[in-house]
Amino acid sequence: MNEKLAVLKNECLKCEACPLSKTRTNVVFGDGNENAKIVFIGEAPGANEDLQGVPFVGRSGKLLDEMCESVGLSRKTNIYIANTVKCRPPENRDPSLDEQRLCAHWLKSQLEIMRPRIIVCVGRIAAQEVIGKNFSISRQHGEFFRHGKMILTAVYHPAAILRNINLKPDTVEDLKKIKLLYDKITSE
Ligand code: URA
Repeated sequence: MNEKLAVLKNECLKCEACPLSKTRTNVVFGDGNENAKIVFIGEAPGANEDLQGVPFVGRSGKLLDEMCESVGLSRKTNIYIANTVKCRPPENRDPSLDEQRLCAHWLKSQLEIMRPRIIVCVGRIAAQEVIGKNFSISRQHGEFFRHGKMILTAVYHPAAILRNINLKPDTVEDLKKIKLLYDKITSE
């Protein structure tokens, strides 16, 4: 493991800054290739993630893995996945603004250490935190936004796709575009 990331993870596992620390089973720090040029950012862990301490391992996660792998992206090789909030909100409610605010520095530090070239927000909550508070996932998914040396983008959350399978083709198209950008960046 990357030394700096390991130190950060150790600190994060001990975090008690917000009430979610009282109800969590595990802190869900992140998973995948720590040297990845692409980082996917979800919202917050659900029940399965809380139990295993790994992001996106439930039904949504399996769908995300399957769609990513269909375009050549995988946490086993070239991507890293983390969440904006590291502990599970009870009953899978949305994380509160306070919880998001108190947790944000962990993700910020992860990104400062990893310095990815592409950030893919998974779903509206992550996109509004990372790209901008007025971000519209239905109108702006798949668009690229330059932020310094990074490109920010967003795709539909796999939980939304499980509720409405018609969103899947658009998401696979967005992921194909992201893979093409990744190929371009890594060949520079
Ligand atoms: N949904 C998310 O946004 N993150 C997870 O880790 C799991 C489900």
